[in-house]
Amino acid sequence: MDADQKAQLDRRRFLKLATAVPAVAAVAALASPLLRMLKPNVGRFQLLAPIAEDTPRGDPIVAANLSEVAKPWDFKYFVFTQRYPQYTPEGFKAANMPGVVIRLPYKIRLPLGWARVIGKEPKVTESDIIVYSRICPHLGCIYNYVPNYKEITAGYGGYAPPPQRQHALMGCPCHLSIYDPADRDVPGRVLSGPAPRPPRTFLFELQGQNIVVTDVEPGGIA
Ligand code: FES
Repeated sequence: MDADQKAQLDRRRFLKLATAVPAVAAVAALASPLLRMLKPNVGRFQLLAPIAEDTPRGDPIVAANLSEVAKPWDFKYFVFTQRYPQYTPEGFKAANMPGVVIRLPYKIRLPLGWARVIGKEPKVTESDIIVYSRICPHLGCIYNYVPNYKEITAGYGGYAPPPQRQHALMGCPCHLSIYDPADRDVPGRVLSGPAPRPPRTFLFELQGQNIVVTDVEPGGIA
């Protein structure tokens, strides 16, 4: 091969490359929106970025110490920072979720069926401690833990609990939904008002004297 032929070959190679690169780029640019349609995420070409359906998560926190909820009906409010995978430049949106730790007078089976659905194995399944989200499942107000049931009757629409429920209850000031935190069959049972379901619960574990919450039942208002 003489020098002329070699130069021609190099030029041909260069021209091939020069046309191939834009062609590949054009295919990638066309494929990107299609792939994002299949898995919508926060940025172009980020196929492994979180999507709206990904499980919300938060860092475990100490919600209470056992000594703070030592007696039946003791309670402690706390705030859990929930991180939702959503359409933000950071990929996660943080939201503060208020919760309440309650010491019940007896042990109940905790309503944690949801945990296995998101791949978590509850460490505590039966306990006289229960941890609820304080987001009202009706329309999302923050409900209150009311230690004296008479305050429920006086301040939450006149609901008068029957004798077996005359203990601490939970009441929402917005539309007056009332919940029983200690119902053995349906913990958080709706006793009155428009709420369609009990409040969501937290997964927790005991680390020494600390009650550590790790996850909250996914889902928004009903
Ligand atoms: S938001 Fe709580 S009862 Fe409506």
